[in-house]
Amino acid sequence: MWLGDVALTGDPAQDVPAVLTARGYPQTAAHCAHVAAEAKALAERFAADGRAAEWAGWLHDVGALIPLEQRVALARAWGIGVLPEEARLPMILHQKLAVPLAREGFGVREVAVLSAIGCHTTLKSDAALLDKVVFLADKIAWDQEGPPPYLASLRAALTHSLDAAVCVYLNYLWERRATLPVVHPWLVAAYRQLCGVAQSWS
Ligand SMILES: [Fe+2]
Repeated sequence: MWLGDVALTGDPAQDVPAVLTARGYPQTAAHCAHVAAEAKALAERFAADGRAAEWAGWLHDVGALIPLEQRVALARAWGIGVLPEEARLPMILHQKLAVPLAREGFGVREVAVLSAIGCHTTLKSDAALLDKVVFLADKIAWDQEGPPPYLASLRAALTHSLDAAVCVYLNYLWERRATLPVVHPWLVAAYRQLCGVAQSWS
């Protein structure tokens, strides 16, 4: 029911924009196209699977199909653990809800693709290469006006490593932690693990 009555082809590059546009989210479709292209380019640069990265990029934001006010209840009904931070800010749940939508709705079976979709907003501890690629692609191709303020630093860090670029973005958030509506524990875990930071985020 979340995908509407669009006839799917099995190709997310066609199916995701068709469904998102039909359901009234053309801007999300455009953002997904941008993320898919960035993810593919990053994957090729850092020896990840380009096709998997592209698929995850297309599908990462299909959680947008579920209205905000239904996300907490639906996540619980689908057996997805809801953290206190997610109950407070259901927007963040779109990453977890996108996993069953990608699997059951769009037929994605690849565990690595589903993992990258499921942590694209916050990252997580023990993140895989594809998780980092899609996380960064989403930050490079952000869905707000103008270029992201951290973009130049992030691109410079990419000349060193993927992890250095992840830490540029996580540091950017760390400096603004007092202004964030919630600080997701997966993000804190990734920050501590990858960026060698021991501070508390509270
Ligand atoms: Fe996104």
